[in-house]
Amino acid sequence: MVNTDEFIDEKVAEIRNDVGDANAVIALSGGVDSSTAAALAYEALGDQLTPVYVDTGLMRKGETDEIRETFDYMDSLRIVDAKDRFLDALADVTDPEEKRHAIGEQFIREFETVAEETQADYLVQGTIYPDRIESEGTIKSHHNVGGLPDVVDFEGIVEPMRDLYKDEVREVARALDLEEIIAERMPFPGPGLAVRILGEVTEEKLEVAREATHVVEEELDEYDPWQAFAAVLGKATGVKGDNRVHGYVVAVRSVESRDGMTARAQEIDWETLQRIQSRITGQNDNVSRVVYDVTHKPPATIEYE
Ligand code: XMP
Repeated sequence: MVNTDEFIDEKVAEIRNDVGDANAVIALSGGVDSSTAAALAYEALGDQLTPVYVDTGLMRKGETDEIRETFDYMDSLRIVDAKDRFLDALADVTDPEEKRHAIGEQFIREFETVAEETQADYLVQGTIYPDRIESEGTIKSHHNVGGLPDVVDFEGIVEPMRDLYKDEVREVARALDLEEIIAERMPFPGPGLAVRILGEVTEEKLEVAREATHVVEEELDEYDPWQAFAAVLGKATGVKGDNRVHGYVVAVRSVESRDGMTARAQEIDWETLQRIQSRITGQNDNVSRVVYDVTHKPPATIEYE
């Protein structure tokens, strides 16, 4: 555990010292890591820092509005509407790693544009310790590690939280008065809903994943999961009214974990599962089945791709 007040003072001083009079940018995803890094860096740099939120269209329900409200106090905040460009970049892409790559590339392009406009010399990143470990092991190409610094020519990279675990980041977030909704927010992957959709990402599948995830988050809140969400798997036959439908299969996943490196599937009571099933199939005509994922990590990962 860190002493949060000392940590914040130390990092604010360090960031000021590293960046000096130059400009900096940070990609703000709304997750606890980048939000905390942005708040720390904004405290150090004020409007010398441009926090950039790219609306990829792969976010959860209401997320962009929440970000806009939470970070409204940062005058330099930029919100980039890039939904159409991301969907174009993902058209026909089915391989998981290619998907991550396409998202990462598009993200870099969006970000690069703002970095050039603001003449930023420094990049602030919300990288935390487990990100570095997983990237070193190449378990998965996390798009928030690497990527940006390799492509955009920055004078320096600032990673104030590179040695922290997730629960420590949450403590720092709370000490920075980041709203509880951010400090307690479930981790959400950089590539967003795209890694919860098997196969090609389409607007239709995104809509299903977004609405179903909203239901799951609401219904499973009392279980206090590390992450709970819905994924869109494939299609299967079902019956709605008098008709057979070939609808989506939605998987519900709810796990507990300390840091995301390992995880246990949560035991959820039958009634709750049935309520989730009925809300999801009820609100989406094109969903024919809801299944619950009982697999721990390992052997599964938390996300589906
Ligand atoms: P997995 O699926 O590898 O996920 O068990 C472990 C934790 O990492 C999150 N995750 C990501 N976060 N970029 C991120 O910022 C990514 O590409 C990414 N992939 C997975 C996942 O949500 C979980 O908390």
